Amino acid sequence: MTIGQIIGGEYGDVWIRQKSGETIEIGDLLSIDDLILQVHDLSYGSLMDNNDLARMSGMQLEGYDETSLMEEEIRNFINAKAKPLVHIKDGDAKIPKILPDFFGGLKRVTKEDFEFMEEPENSLYLGKVRSGSYTLDVPVYINGKEALSHHLLIPATTGRGKSNLVKVMLWNLIPKEYCGMLIIDPHDEYYGRNEYGAKDHPKFDKKVMYYSPNPPKGGYHLRLNISGLKPWNLQGTIDLTDAQNQAVYMFYSHFRDDWLSELLKASNEEASGYGIQEATMNALKRKLKLKFDLRVKNGKVVPKGKIFVTEGSESLVNDIVKAVEDGKKVILDTSSMPQDKELLIAGIITDKIFKKYKSYKEMGELEDKPTVSVVIEEAPRVLGERAGRNVFHQIAREGRKFNVGLIAITQLSSMIPREILANMNTKIILGNEMKSERDAIIGSAAQDLSKDSKNIASLDKGEAIVSSIFTKFAVPIQIDFFDDVVEKDTKEKKEKNLEFFG
Ligand SMILES: Nc1ncnc2c1ncn2[C@@H]1O[C@H](COP(=O)(O)OP(=O)(O)OP(=O)(O)O)[C@@H](O)[C@H]1O
Ligand SMILES: [Mg+2]
Repeated sequence: MTIGQIIGGEYGDVWIRQKSGETIEIGDLLSIDDLILQVHDLSYGSLMDNNDLARMSGMQLEGYDETSLMEEEIRNFINAKAKPLVHIKDGDAKIPKILPDFFGGLKRVTKEDFEFMEEPENSLYLGKVRSGSYTLDVPVYINGKEALSHHLLIPATTGRGKSNLVKVMLWNLIPKEYCGMLIIDPHDEYYGRNEYGAKDHPKFDKKVMYYSPNPPKGGYHLRLNISGLKPWNLQGTIDLTDAQNQAVYMFYSHFRDDWLSELLKASNEEASGYGIQEATMNALKRKLKLKFDLRVKNGKVVPKGKIFVTEGSESLVNDIVKAVEDGKKVILDTSSMPQDKELLIAGIITDKIFKKYKSYKEMGELEDKPTVSVVIEEAPRVLGERAGRNVFHQIAREGRKFNVGLIAITQLSSMIPREILANMNTKIILGNEMKSERDAIIGSAAQDLSKDSKNIASLDKGEAIVSSIFTKFAVPIQIDFFDDVVEKDTKEKKEKNLEFFG
């Protein structure tokens, strides 16, 4: 059924008169022939001039009988502005280069309009096609192996559904062999201690590892033996002077994995034997002890906290790297840690993964390995201008060459440098209230979203736009609600078991 008619405009700004009795929303998808248009703005239109309108309004307000010049529904109307979103040609989606027929009638899209959308290999399900606030029964997939190694950005104002989206993606990725994941979880929300989470997945035991300073049964201890710390892990987490930095490397070159404990135990005489001054040594020791919660007692380095230890957990980093390489999903509960410790641990593990994948590339073995995706919340902490050079920066710049990508979650895209934003080749844009944030996202999107500012501002919880070099157009989607997904998937399984056992 026709719900509007084209009455003018230009490419990117097609004017549509809304049929009376119909409601066109911002974000609605409308079809005409083989084109799909998307509404990005609404305004009033009238056939009368402003004086006439003011006079008639006055008469209505003051209780005079209305004087009608023409039929109401013909006289005043709503004007929608839309842009051609996709041109379906020979069963394939193309960037539209034409305008639809002048005076042509538009219909609402239906499921059949999206028959060209297919499930790619190594698929990752994101949600369903959405027209305004109406969801169509058309699943949207991207090639997960490709897209995850080319980084994903999830920008949104707080409470719009970023975490819900990551929960849904993780759930769908758990059984997929093509991708290993490291999820740094500062809110401890992905495992699901007290609510639904990865733990409820039928394949949790085989495919997910959960590390926490206070692990539940079946989880693992998140604690790091200081022998696993390398001098370059300190970069960006401790401010060291040049002299202090040199001292660190001096000890590393002499003692390798024991550099930290040997440094903390070293007397000033020993240090001066390496050409390190007393003042440098004292200040450095103080900083390192504070950072890693360590002290020296009776000539032995002992831990004061639960996270950095001197005995046990030597294999933590290697275990995690191995799991990720096997296509498993590893969740790190960092909720009880101060931010600097969280980023230090996350950095050490990520660094090891990245180095390993670089070496696989050199040895020509990369093809056989799953893509690795590292999930990081509040991404400007590690990707912002002020974060300094760190492994996350490096991955954002060159990770895709080594099949290592980021899933960067943020409320503040504008704090991430433009070139890094542009490198995030898939953006799943949820509602964003701040114009400066929308501008940063729009300015670095894979498709032209210059008309979509209002559209993005008006996105409700779970509504998103996927802009990606791996999609033919910026696809509006509705993301599933995680609790529903869990209930559906576990119910099916329970029913199957029931059938099986009678
Ligand atoms: N796809 C969805 N469908 C229905 N409800 C949703 C959806 N996504 C999110 N919600 C609702 O919105 C609430 C907030 O979502 P979520 O915690 O994912 O937001 P967020 O963007 O991660 O927020 P924050 O910035 O605070 O971390 C959820 O608890 C849920 O009730
Ligand atoms: Mg969240």
